[in-house]
Order: sequence, then C-alpha cells, then structure tokens
Amino acid sequence: MKNKVIITEMIDQEGIKILKKTLDVDIKVGISREELLNIIHDYNAIIVRSNTNVDEELFDKAKNLKIVGRAGNGIDNIDVEAATKRGIIVANTPQSNTMSACELTIGLLLAQSRNIPQANGDTKLGNWGRNSFKGVEVYGKTLGIIGLGKIGSLVATRMKAFGMNIIAYDPYITDERFEKFKATKKERLKELVEESDFITVHTPKTEETINIIDKNEIKCMKDGVRLVNAARGGIINEDALLKGINEGKIASAALDVHKVEPCINSKLFDHPNIIVTPHIGAGTIEAQENVGKTIANQIINGLNGDIVSNA
Ligand code: MLT
Repeated sequence: MKNKVIITEMIDQEGIKILKKTLDVDIKVGISREELLNIIHDYNAIIVRSNTNVDEELFDKAKNLKIVGRAGNGIDNIDVEAATKRGIIVANTPQSNTMSACELTIGLLLAQSRNIPQANGDTKLGNWGRNSFKGVEVYGKTLGIIGLGKIGSLVATRMKAFGMNIIAYDPYITDERFEKFKATKKERLKELVEESDFITVHTPKTEETINIIDKNEIKCMKDGVRLVNAARGGIINEDALLKGINEGKIASAALDVHKVEPCINSKLFDHPNIIVTPHIGAGTIEAQENVGKTIANQIINGLNGDIVSNA
C-alpha cells in the first residue's frame, strides 16, 4: 500500500507531480481544524505552509504520521519538540524562498519611501497629484537590519548597492559575518533603533523576538523612521506601531505579515501611511517551484528512511 500525504496549503504543481509518482496525495486546502483532526490518523505525511498549526493536539491524533513538511522557512507553526518526542521528522525549506522574501522586503522599503501604492491608487482615481507624493531617497540613509541571517544578509548586500549605510543587530552571528556583508555591528538593539532611518526585521518568531519592536524601542527611534516587516507578524507590536504612526514618530510602515493571519480586517489598514500585503514574501514563480520540489523530495526521502536535508 502506498504512503499517504495530506497537503493543507497549496504547493507548486511540480512538487505535487513528484509526490504523485510514489504516494497517494490528498489536497485539502482550506480544510477546517476539526476535519483535519478527524482524518490525520490516515496519513503518513503532512505538508503545510504557515497557516496550519501542527501541534501536540494534532500529533496525538496522528498515529501514522512520520514526517511534517513545512513548505517554507519559518517553523513557528510547528511544535518541533512534540514531533521529536514522537520520532516524527520535521523538514522545512529554508533556502528555497529567501531571495523572494528579500526582494519583497526591498519592494516594501521603496514603496513607502516613494509612496508608490498611494500614488498608484490616487492616479487611478483620476487625480494628477504630482506634488502630493513627495518621498525620500534611500541613498545615504541608514538601514537597520534586525537579524542578519539568510534573508537579512541578502537585503544588506542589495541595499548597500543603493548607497545605504547598513547597520545590523544579531546576537547569534559572528563578527566575520557582519564584515562579510559590510554591516556595522550594533551590540544593542537600542543603538540600532536610535541610528536607523529605515528598519527591517528578519528574525524567526520566537519568545525572544515577539514584540522585539515595541513602545520602548519606538520611543528611541529617529523621528520619521520607516519600518518593514516581511518576517513574521507580531515581531513588531502592532498597537505600538499604530500609536507611533498616529503620533507622527514613525513616517510609514510596510507589513507583509500580521499578528493574526489571515488578516482581513485591522485598524492598521485604515492608516494611509501603512502599506499592507497578504504574506506574499514567498509568492513568486521561482520560490514556489523551488519550495514545492524541495519539500516533495524531502517527504519522499523521509518516508523511505533516507536522509532529509533541509535545503
Ligand atoms: C516562510 O516562512 O518561508 C514563509 O512564510 C513562506 C510561506 O509559507 O509563504
């Protein structure tokens, strides 16, 4: 009998093709939590993105589960400890969508420095507001990067080419890595927030990073600072952000990720200087193809008892 895999959030067709060669594949996008809990015992593998919680409750019912595939990078929706306790493999694809996440970050940074979404909306309404959308150059400005890992370092290299001064805070990496990416190391987060004109966060979501930017950090920022979050919702405290923007401390912000997702209604949406997108950092043809193929091969390797490399 073939092993069975359930897919709860869509992956690329190339990945599905690979899976179908050897496995029974059930695509159940949009399945309710209750239904998933009822049927998970039938499956040997599950593939999710960021919206399916794979936790202790699910593992308790998943008597035949051998591997969880996280089609993407962040594993904050997977209880890895609970999986490990039960001998269930957790595989993710940390390399596959980093460039896309980096490029969206830069898009969000430039979109707000030049008010591109606002100007687009206004022009299409039939207005010709040439003088209404004065922005700022990024050239010569300081970009503060919180987390100089895979995505943060790609952003650093590219924004250096725009003539930005790059500073970074990351207590987990070596001095050599700061040097490699020509980022000036900040020992303390406070120094980074005090000196930056633009700030972008690139950390996983952990106990330590939830609300890493909160009211105290915002208080220390330069007036007119601009923020980007294309990492995980909640790393920047949304209430503090809104307050900072309403008080004129923060000039603008761009958020691809939200504290609660899907996010279809938020008080942040009402502010003209906050740009929002629906968690599309990995939403490119290239990233989805990479992620889909990688996760499919990992699932097959895991079920065959072969080495699962988190590529
Ligand atoms: C990630 O962690 O890689 C992203 O959230 C990707 C995604 O699931 O869209």
